[in-house]
Amino acid sequence: MTEAGPRRVWIETFGCQMNDYDSARMLRLLQDDGYERATDPIEADVIIFNTCSVRAKAEQKALSRLGRVKGLRQLNRRLKFVFAGCFAQLAAADILARYSFLDLVLGVDAIPRLPRHLHDLAAGAGPIVDVAFAPTYEEDVRDFGDLIPGKGSPVAAFVTIMRGCNNFCAYCVVPYVRGRERSRPAAEILREVRQLAARGVREITLLGQNVNSYGRGLPEGGDFADLLRQVHEIDGLARIRFTTSHPKDLSDRLCRAFSELPKLANHIHLPIQSGSDRVLAAMGRGYDRATYLARLGALRAARPDIAITSDFLIGFPGETAADFGQTLALVEQARFSNAFSFRYSERPGTAAARRPDDVPEDVKIARLIELQELQRGITLALHGELVGRKVTALVERRQEDGHLYPWTGKSGCYRELHFHGEGVAVGDLITVKCEEAFPNHLLGVAVSRVEPGASGGRNAD
Ligand code: SAH
Ligand code: SF4
Ligand code: F3S
Repeated sequence: MTEAGPRRVWIETFGCQMNDYDSARMLRLLQDDGYERATDPIEADVIIFNTCSVRAKAEQKALSRLGRVKGLRQLNRRLKFVFAGCFAQLAAADILARYSFLDLVLGVDAIPRLPRHLHDLAAGAGPIVDVAFAPTYEEDVRDFGDLIPGKGSPVAAFVTIMRGCNNFCAYCVVPYVRGRERSRPAAEILREVRQLAARGVREITLLGQNVNSYGRGLPEGGDFADLLRQVHEIDGLARIRFTTSHPKDLSDRLCRAFSELPKLANHIHLPIQSGSDRVLAAMGRGYDRATYLARLGALRAARPDIAITSDFLIGFPGETAADFGQTLALVEQARFSNAFSFRYSERPGTAAARRPDDVPEDVKIARLIELQELQRGITLALHGELVGRKVTALVERRQEDGHLYPWTGKSGCYRELHFHGEGVAVGDLITVKCEEAFPNHLLGVAVSRVEPGASGGRNAD
């Protein structure tokens, strides 16, 4: 707030893990430029919104937050507002016209230029819009230092392995806002994973909109299953995860990796979107229900204890009650360990936006609730089966003192565990006996530490 002292940056992140990773990149670039992290927006000299456009609701969330902080400039004349991320990319000119107090609109590939733009603004430049796409994967951060890109745990980190998407699913805005698919060279990914592991990170999640097509377009080639094998060699890591996998590109080699790589967690997120072949074809997903179920079979053959989670999009244009019935039947059949479901939200410029958004909102809501109730029952039943049994947790954090279940971690199959017990530390792999099941988590007690070097995925339910 004052003219003297270090400049401070505050970042709010919306959307997916790619944005969590990008927020860490922005923070890191600004740390290198002398900034410190603000603990409250009120003390910030720069406020960054890293936004999402996947659904209209995500956009509205960012705009309503923006409305709440814009008055802070009255307290700090040198405060700069940066609107970054996917929504900034999509609506750059509009955003600036509607929110004229913004100083910088920063597209997804413009992150490396953030410090330079802030210097120009400090020197008196007017509002800046930079939404140029980069033709290749541009490396900017060489070392995250004490920042761990992710959800706030010091032992679980995200590493982006590719940017963009070439799939153009009919409903989806991501290919328009993130640009074409570009893979990151394996040597860079491995360097970053080694650095994070050297700082105590035990779990890595490799990120991309479609990780299965990793390597396409790289001069040296590359294959996702090979990349997993290389990451698996890195000392110190206990677990490897990845997201997102597109069912149409899920190779036999990747299925085999689940039986061959013990550190690969026994979980895969494999969004299906709908159980109706008619709707899947209209979405342009490139697989049908039978192919999807066959892939589930292959995964379960490779790793019998694998947990599968999925995404559903409800109320796509033209979705009938019969189509939705097939989605419900698929949910019964697939027995996902969990599923995320969303109401269709028309996105400008997408193929589906040319069709009428004809499923009434109340029907979408009713279908969403029905699907969520069904899945909730399945998730709870699967959690119930674990009561009395042992799972392996990677300890991610400790709650404040006085909590009955102070430790929080995740099983290999991505279930959240809260537990109590002695001799536990963040970063440990702990065998936890489950005592009570809820739809979103399990409660339990620590029974033993898993020795270093043991697998974090294979022996976990
Ligand atoms: N690359 C990932 C998905 C990224 S978007 C994949 O292919 O699975 C995450 C989820 O948001 C999607 O799986 C989909 O269920 C949902 N989603 C995408 N576009 C949407 C839209 N227009 N309306 C509602 N939900 C949408
Ligand atoms: Fe969107 Fe489809 Fe690409 Fe996923 S694969 S980001 S749903 S276009
Ligand atoms: Fe949203 Fe962009 Fe991710 S649109 S879901 S933040 S890639």
